[in-house]
Amino acid sequence: MRVLGIETSCDETSAAILDGVGDDVSLRSLVILSQDVHRIFGGVVPEIASRAHLTSIVPVVERAFADAGVDTVDAVAVTNAPGLVGALLVGVSYAKAFAFARGVPVIGVHHMEGHLFATALEHRDAVPPFTALLVSGGHTMLLDVEAWGRYRLLGKTRDDAAGEAFDKVAKLLGLPYPGGPHVERLAAASESGDFRFARPMVRRNQIHGDADFYDVSFSGLKTAVLTAVKSSNVEESRGAIARAFHDAMVDTLVEKTTRAARQFARSRVVLGGGVAGNATLVAAMRERFEPRGVQVFAPSARLATDNAAMIARAGLFHLERGEQSPLDLNAFSSQPIPGLVAA
Ligand code: KG4
Ligand code: ZN
Repeated sequence: MRVLGIETSCDETSAAILDGVGDDVSLRSLVILSQDVHRIFGGVVPEIASRAHLTSIVPVVERAFADAGVDTVDAVAVTNAPGLVGALLVGVSYAKAFAFARGVPVIGVHHMEGHLFATALEHRDAVPPFTALLVSGGHTMLLDVEAWGRYRLLGKTRDDAAGEAFDKVAKLLGLPYPGGPHVERLAAASESGDFRFARPMVRRNQIHGDADFYDVSFSGLKTAVLTAVKSSNVEESRGAIARAFHDAMVDTLVEKTTRAARQFARSRVVLGGGVAGNATLVAAMRERFEPRGVQVFAPSARLATDNAAMIARAGLFHLERGEQSPLDLNAFSSQPIPGLVAA
């Protein structure tokens, strides 16, 4: 089956075409147009994002077809939740019109389920069963994935998402938006010196079943960074603060992922979402898991951040199960990931 994927949930206009059956897929094209305009404002401005999607969607899809060297597809998959509703609506409206005009089915895809599939596009063994850590700008989720479409949500953030914490800390340190890669680079080049921040919610005496066992929280860490910035000469301490924050963030994510993999005796860990493009995090995961015989899979930076290839891949899974969406498919700013099983 050949699927056109469309992604417009935030500030990337993306289209992709892939061919495949089951886990045997080949990506024929992927176009990602990032809206740099938001850098001026230090964060995504929803109305500007929607308008930019509107002007980009047609040329982005045309380019995806040209790059793939094909004219037809069997179906169209589009992100319809969660995200900025005005931005999502551009992709959803386009996909429905496309499906109607071409007489092909349309399937709405949950953005986070897309992130779950992204790594499998590059690594053939990044398939269930596995422990998944999804860390993006809007979400932080720890899942046990027994099979595609069967997701046990173990933990989530109580406040800021991991990527959001990176972006806010970058702002406090005077680094550009989006902050994740800048904080990572500065931290990697620095020592933490006298700064050390508490690892949130990783007390050793927590036991499985505790509400805090898998959840994370980054607002306290962010406040610790703010206090450090205020109480020091930030020009001098910027690098050390970035390093101390980065160490605390990585330790927390590695510890929570370890708990989940151990509890369900999984031999694979799959990372997804923009923060999974963080090489220091991936290296720390490998260092923790590989001696235990657990493989760690992470997407390349291009597939870690928002892209339509992962949406086409998740859409293919649903289409192969005989699912499709009605032509009154809507966009939703928030919605639970489909296929949730009881924790
Ligand atoms: O998945 P994504 O592209 O968009 C959402 O669905 O939110 O994730 C974007 C987030 C941003 O917060 C960005 O700062 C963060 O991913 N990010 C990183 C890195 N690259 C992107 N965070 C830490 N380290 C990175 N290398
Ligand atoms: Zn995303």
